[in-house]
Amino acid sequence: MHHRFIIAAILLVTALSTSYGHSNDADKLAAFMRLKLQHSERILEGIVLEDYKLIEKNAQDLSLLSHDEMWQVFQTPEYLQHSLEFRRAADELVGAARKRNLDGATLAYMGVTLKCVSCHKHVRDVRMAGLEELPAIRLGRR
Ligand code: HEC
Repeated sequence: MHHRFIIAAILLVTALSTSYGHSNDADKLAAFMRLKLQHSERILEGIVLEDYKLIEKNAQDLSLLSHDEMWQVFQTPEYLQHSLEFRRAADELVGAARKRNLDGATLAYMGVTLKCVSCHKHVRDVRMAGLEELPAIRLGRR
């Protein structure tokens, strides 16, 4: 019994250290970027269930993410502009949720989604032009 516990503990520690060992900067960046998707899903949930608090909180989180150091993967004026427009759209969504305006929130959510897509298009174009190279994660289309 005691023995088994020790073996289990060793296995656990090994598993943990292996997974930590593999988590490099690219994994961290990917995990950070994926948060946007999680917040978007929560926002959609808030919209369909008319839960304004849920919408507000997750839209705020999206806006905050765009201030994070990890967000700033490119330092170009275009990327900054996309970031700014994205934040503005997220803030608009926060405003609509505070006003408990469901149609407004739905439209603002679409606005936010359009900004996701246009920034990602931009990032892919930059990649295709071979102007910038990021570690491992890719937005499809190589
Ligand atoms: C201002 C630019 C910008 C905006 C706006 C933006 N993203 Fe991203 N996103 C990025 C960049 C840069 C990456 C990393 C791309 C890469 O390395 O190929 C990324 C990566 C991702 C990834 C992939 C993470 C992985 O697993 O590799 C997801 C998912 C994602 N974004 C979702 C979203 C969603 C959802 C939104 C809108 C709510 C959004 N993004 C808005 C720039 C943006």
